[in-house]
Formats: sequence, structure tokens, C-alpha cells
Amino acid sequence: MAVLNIRTLPDPLLRQKARRVNKIDDSLQRLIDDMIDTMRDADGAGLAANQVGVLRRVIVIEIPEEEQVLVLINPDITRREGEREVEEGCLSIPGYRGELKRSLKVRARGTDRDGRPVRIRAEGLLAQALEHEMDHINGILYIDHLESAERLWKLEPQEAGTQTEAS
Ligand code: NI
Repeated sequence: MAVLNIRTLPDPLLRQKARRVNKIDDSLQRLIDDMIDTMRDADGAGLAANQVGVLRRVIVIEIPEEEQVLVLINPDITRREGEREVEEGCLSIPGYRGELKRSLKVRARGTDRDGRPVRIRAEGLLAQALEHEMDHINGILYIDHLESAERLWKLEPQEAGTQTEAS
């Protein structure tokens, strides 16, 4: 297991659509373990594979409300409901936070790391993280959803060290 380098803007990989995973093999398991290590090392709430330089549709999420780390391969969001204002950061855009609209509830599906189908109904932070990471594997960043430039702000140096809920 290893902590990988997190790509930051303007790395072009962050703007590319990741490809579907067709084969779950040892190298994919290693990637997932490394992504979990990297997310934890950065105090992040989630991570998408292209953030560590791999253009594959794999995401990991770890938030306090959930007991276990969530690993999703080839995830899709099948339903979005409602809207709420949230504050968000991203490990690939260090030192900034923004305010944007996310869904109140989402339903998602994909497979777990063993290839078993998973269906999730999520709200709150988990729904937000699912939308954020799904965006990543489609080459979209939270700054694309800002309604105006004033919705993005730079963190003070003392705040920048604590990237709470960034993913
Ligand atoms: Ni992010």
C-alpha cells in the first residue's frame, strides 16, 4: 500500500472522462488500497482514480457517518432529488472552497471491489460525496457548478491545512 501523488489543477487528467473497468484484478485491488491510503493521508472524504493519475471509473468515499469506506467501481447516479446549498472543497484544488448546489438525495449503483452489484440510497454528506466523485470521473470539478466567481474563496493559510470534507 502506498500514498500516491494527488493531481491538482491544471493537470489535464482531471478534465478527462475515465474509462469503465472491465476486469477486477490484482492491480485494481492495489489501486483501490492505494487510493484509500492516499485519501486518509490527505484527510479527504473521497477520491477518484483520475486524481491519482489513473483514468478508470473507480471512487472511494470515507465519511464519519458511514462505518466503512465505500468503494465503487463503474458507479452511476440513477436518481437525484431536491437541491441544497453546500460548501465544498477538493483535494485537487488545494486552498480553496466554494459554495454550490448539490442534490438532497441520490441513488447510485455500481459494483464493490469484488465485483458484486451495489445499490445505494444516500443523502447529506454521502450524497454530496457521491456527486463530487462521480463528477471527477467525468472530468467535472466542483468549480464548474459555481453560479458566480464570488462563490469561490481562498482559505486563510491557517485554514488551508485542514481540508475538511475535501475530496
Ligand atoms: Ni475532488
